[in-house]
Amino acid sequence: MPLTGIDALAFAGPASYLEMTDLARARNVDPSKYLVGLGQRRMAIATPCEDTVTMAVEAGSKALDNFDIDPGEIGTLIVGTETGVDHSKPVAVYVHELLGLDQRCRTFETKHACYGAMAGLTASMDWIASGRARGRKALVIASDIARYGLNTAGEPTQGAGAVAMAVSDTPRLLAIDPARIGDYTRQVMDFWRPLYSKYAFADGHYSIECYLDALVGARLDAIGECSELLESLTACLYHVPFVKMAFKAHQRQMEIELGTQITREQAARWQALDDSYQRLTAPWLSLNADIGNIYTGSLFLALIDLLRQADNAFAGREVSLFSYGSGCGATYCIGTISEGADQWRDALDPSEHLSTRRQLNIDEYEALVLETDNADRQEKLEPSSFGLKDGLFYVGTRDHCRQYQRF
Ligand code: CAA
Repeated sequence: MPLTGIDALAFAGPASYLEMTDLARARNVDPSKYLVGLGQRRMAIATPCEDTVTMAVEAGSKALDNFDIDPGEIGTLIVGTETGVDHSKPVAVYVHELLGLDQRCRTFETKHACYGAMAGLTASMDWIASGRARGRKALVIASDIARYGLNTAGEPTQGAGAVAMAVSDTPRLLAIDPARIGDYTRQVMDFWRPLYSKYAFADGHYSIECYLDALVGARLDAIGECSELLESLTACLYHVPFVKMAFKAHQRQMEIELGTQITREQAARWQALDDSYQRLTAPWLSLNADIGNIYTGSLFLALIDLLRQADNAFAGREVSLFSYGSGCGATYCIGTISEGADQWRDALDPSEHLSTRRQLNIDEYEALVLETDNADRQEKLEPSSFGLKDGLFYVGTRDHCRQYQRF
């Protein structure tokens, strides 16, 4: 079985963001609830000209350019998203054209809430392992805009962005062990978005329980009843709808290894939990805290955060990854950081983009939400009116066909 895994990684996201403190003040909420209770600092806000397609293309082209991959090397393109732009036509086929990929490319979209990109990643690994790839790479892109609506409990857990990853049999960043991949599926109504709604509905507290149950199930399928995994790892990465969720997930992994669940009060006094969380998870959550929930890409955003801090001592070290998609489906797997991965730190670091984002005030944010609601039917949208300059943008729909233009 060839060694397969992640060969390139890149993030792209909207040019604007909202400070969580501004949102908290506008909603008459103590800012500590968002900053400490949820662990979020900022959230990326998409304008009407930035959609799932434009973010996917920007992330995809960065992954190809920054890692010297010729578009002709891509034989499979998968876009994982739960916020596509059409009920029928896949985001992936727009992305295929806009990235200039070869026509001899298998191209499709995967939807399973936040799980779509992990489904794409494991399907790409299977495609390579089966021999069908014939030396080519796959490009898997997670792209989403998390929208819950104004004044809802989910509002502080919004965000937007895309992560692109090339998958190959010579992974320069992370090899994934095919013998330690575990899956979990259960029909639950924890988070969903009916066809008629742009906004997600969530049974928020129940969704947290479903996430934690899925973690237990997928981990069991991946590694059985092992009680000493965490000690051997360098990082535990999770799907991060909000930063505090990663803490809850890490607590559950510690409980699994301890063989018992503990109360909230006990958790607060459990020094080993805090030590383990500070060593294995907290250092890689800074991008998630600054960008918010990007659904399919949020686990891989934590991976970018880890790899942008990796030095050569990280080579050969093992990392766990947990992807959760409401509804629900999940995968738990173990990856090994590649020799030389640290050479790519600058190539995958999105700091420059984040430092040039524009801060929105609450009125601008609320106005954008309303404008985005109507954007699908607008005939002409002007990116400069949203402060956008260089890049690929959605510029309106003519004869029911979406139009994209590079500026
Ligand atoms: N200072 C510090 N902390 C405070 C505080 C204050 N003043 N006030 C409250 N808090 C704490 C609370 O104690 C709580 O922490 P714990 O969970 O550790 O107890 C935290 O802040 C949040 O408070 P609440 O639970 O009262 O918040 P809420 O009821 O308003 O909603 C939420 C929180 C359920 C996450 C909501 O934002 C939501 O529904 N989000 C969308 C659903 C979601 O993200 N689910 C995650 C799992 S599903 C998934 O992962 C898929 C996906 O991407 C959607």
